[in-house]
Amino acid sequence: MGQEQPQAGVTLDAFTGRYAARTAGMTASEIRALFAVASRPEVVSLAGGMPYTSALPLDSVGKLMGDLIATRGAQALQYGSGQGDLRLRELICEVMALEGVVASPDDVVVTVGSQQALDLVTRIFCDPDDVVLAEAPSYVGALGTFASYQAEVRHVAMDADGLQPEALREAIRETGGRAKFLYTIPNFHNPAGVSLSDARRDEVLAICQEAGILVLEDNPYGLLGFDGPPVRAIRARSGTDDVVYLGSFSKTFAPGLRVGWVLAPHAVREKLVLASEASVLCPPQLNQLAVVDYLETQDWQGQVDVFRGIYRERRDAMLDALTQLMPRGTTWTVPTGGFYVWTTLPEGLDAKVMQPRAITARVAYVPGIGFYADGQGRREMRLSYCYPEPDRIREGVRRLAGVVEAELDLLATFGPTAGRSSSAAVQTPAPDMA
Ligand SMILES: Cc1ncc(COP(=O)(O)O)c(C=O)c1O
Repeated sequence: MGQEQPQAGVTLDAFTGRYAARTAGMTASEIRALFAVASRPEVVSLAGGMPYTSALPLDSVGKLMGDLIATRGAQALQYGSGQGDLRLRELICEVMALEGVVASPDDVVVTVGSQQALDLVTRIFCDPDDVVLAEAPSYVGALGTFASYQAEVRHVAMDADGLQPEALREAIRETGGRAKFLYTIPNFHNPAGVSLSDARRDEVLAICQEAGILVLEDNPYGLLGFDGPPVRAIRARSGTDDVVYLGSFSKTFAPGLRVGWVLAPHAVREKLVLASEASVLCPPQLNQLAVVDYLETQDWQGQVDVFRGIYRERRDAMLDALTQLMPRGTTWTVPTGGFYVWTTLPEGLDAKVMQPRAITARVAYVPGIGFYADGQGRREMRLSYCYPEPDRIREGVRRLAGVVEAELDLLATFGPTAGRSSSAAVQTPAPDMA
């Protein structure tokens, strides 16, 4: 029997039935589906996690890139090494040293953003049905990657100090030997906005070491703290074989360049290079050399301080507005760095059901459900303060508070949202279907 042939006009996708099984887990994320509406000018978007690239010294970056082409164009526009440019890997080691990591450039692989690093690590470690432990909630892009390799995500509870060690022990016990790694974002968590405390970093590492589980430490925001020097990375506390560390220039410099990296135990590094060559041959040479020049010729740490100042001011604007305007019963985390506030609505409300009404009120957020692999998070939502100016943030929270008030009125009148349809949730199609 051949493949089932869809009838024209019945299905939108003529290839249904021919795709690999792993595509079943690939669905548009909550964020992606929101993109088209959230980027309309009349909508205050507290949804996207876009760095504020307008604060970069764009003239200097432009000159640097022009000079790069003019003086070393043949090299910059050529293929490069699969592992990534050596000078860049040396500089990456200096960047990681700011968080206490001692590493050799030989163990670093440059990737197309840390998103590609997530893909490579999952590809080389996970067979279908393998278990990945991840915080509850977790980064939506990582969940998408895990799903595309048909890995099963087991969430581990967090509190204001990050991952709860006891919950981690419990998850390891329950999943037996099936967990391939613990995926964790210890600093300024996306989406939860919390950080793993200093003491817990050692404990989490010890638990994983004891269980023989690799730690996948994803740290794109570590240098964007508001209150002092960076906390030592988990990788800085371990031997070289316990932790795979992911870093990125997306938040400290520019996401458009798509330059990230992975620091891995030596044997793992070898596999990662092979996997990366199979997927992209080599990371973009032009962008890597641009990052090298930026790090070597610009005050990049001063620029990180500029970003920290901007994001701190926006965080304050969001927290003040939430405190002043949100109806009682709403709670939120207090981030000390990064981009996100994780908000829990009053009992009985559903952030996904509420979303179309928020869009109508011209404010966008990301419903919490997208940050879990198992359907949790209906009362929760992610609010980002990284991109809008403080006044827009205040206006966005004002609109959101009005929507929540109205939901509470509906709740008081008609009972819990469970009985109301959620099918009206954002009807605007994802960008690729628009
Ligand atoms: C926790 C986390 N990991 C990884 C990424 C991917 O970043 P990039 O691929 O731009 O380095 C992001 C982006 O938002 C993130 O928040």
